[in-house]
Amino acid sequence: MICTVTLNASIDKAYQLSEPLRRGAVQRVARVINRAGGKGLNCARAVRTLGEDVIATGFVGGHNGRMLTELLAEDGIPEAFVRVAGETRCCVNALDPDGCSTELLEPGEPVALADVHALREAVGRLVRGASVVTLNGSLPEGAPTGTYRDLGTDARAAGARVLLDSSGAALLAGLEARPALVKPNAEELAQALGREVATMAEVVEAARELQARGVADVVVSLGSEGAVMASEEGTFRGIAPQIEAVNPVGSGDTMVGAFAVALVRGLSAPERLAFAMACAGANCLSPATGSFDLAVAHRLMDQVTVELVA
Ligand SMILES: Nc1ncnc2c1ncn2[C@@H]1O[C@H](COP(=O)(O)OP(=O)(O)OP(=O)(O)O)[C@@H](O)[C@H]1O
Ligand SMILES: [Mg+2]
Repeated sequence: MICTVTLNASIDKAYQLSEPLRRGAVQRVARVINRAGGKGLNCARAVRTLGEDVIATGFVGGHNGRMLTELLAEDGIPEAFVRVAGETRCCVNALDPDGCSTELLEPGEPVALADVHALREAVGRLVRGASVVTLNGSLPEGAPTGTYRDLGTDARAAGARVLLDSSGAALLAGLEARPALVKPNAEELAQALGREVATMAEVVEAARELQARGVADVVVSLGSEGAVMASEEGTFRGIAPQIEAVNPVGSGDTMVGAFAVALVRGLSAPERLAFAMACAGANCLSPATGSFDLAVAHRLMDQVTVELVA
C-alpha cells in the first residue's frame, strides 16, 4: 500500500483554449476537465493507474472538499482525508492549443494546529498498512514549517519509506526525516541550495550534494530535458522521449507516484528512473492534469535513455 499526503489539495480545472491566452481579452473555454488535484492526488492517480494499492489523505473542506472526494471516488482512489473548516481551493490551468500552460493557483485557506495534529494521527494509523508514504506539495498557512519532518519521521519510525516533493523551507525541514527520495525541479533545487544551478554539471553536483545529506535518491526533474538522479547506485542522467506535450502540469507528481510504485516493485535505480520518466512523459500527452494512459507509458519506456554519469 502507498499512502499519499496532500495538505494543500485543490479542484484542478484544466481549461482547453482554442486560441492562445490573451491578457485583457474575453475568451471562451473549449473544454473543461475537473480533477481532484493537489500534487499528492496527481501522485495517487499515477499509483492507481500503475495498479498498486493507494490511499489518499490530507485536508479537505467545504463544498469543494466534497466535490474533491467525489472526483476521487470516480478515480477509484480510497481516501482518509481530515475534514477542516476552510473551503478547499481551486486551481486553473489554461492550456493553449500548442500545449503552453498558464496556471492560476489559489492560496488555499489556513488550517488550525488541531487539524495538523489530527493529520499526524491519521498518517500514523495509515502508515501501519503502508510501505511507502509520499509527502507532496506546499504547506497550507497554519501548518508549521516542520510538518513534513514530523510526518516523515513518524512514517520512517513505522518502517515506511518516505518520498518528499516540496519546495523552500518545507523541503529543507523535511530533509531531516531522511527521505528515501526527494524530487525537486531545477528551480526548487536552486532555491533549496541557495545558489544558481544552470548547467548539467551543476545539476549533477547539486543532486549529489543533497544526496550526501542523507537522502537515498535525489531526482532532479528538468522538464523536456529529462532528469538527473543521484542514488546509492550511482548518478544517472535520463534523457526524455521527444514528444509534443499537450499538458505537462503534474508530470513531476506522476514521476513521484511512479517512483513509489518502482520502490514497491524493487526496481534498480536506473530502472526506477526510466519507469518514472516514461510515466511522466505519458502525463504530458494526456490533456487532463496529473493522469496518463498506461499503454502510452509502456510505449515511451523504450524511448527513455538512462546513462551513468558518475
Ligand atoms: N516536454 C516534455 N517532454 C518529455 N518529457 C517531459 C516533458 N516535460 C516533462 N517531462 C517529464 O516529466 C518529468 C517531470 O517534469 P518537470 O521537471 O516539469 O516536473 P515539475 O516541475 O515537478 O512538474 P509538476 O510540479 O507540475 O508536476 C521530467 O523529468 C520529464 O521526464
Ligand atoms: Mg513538481
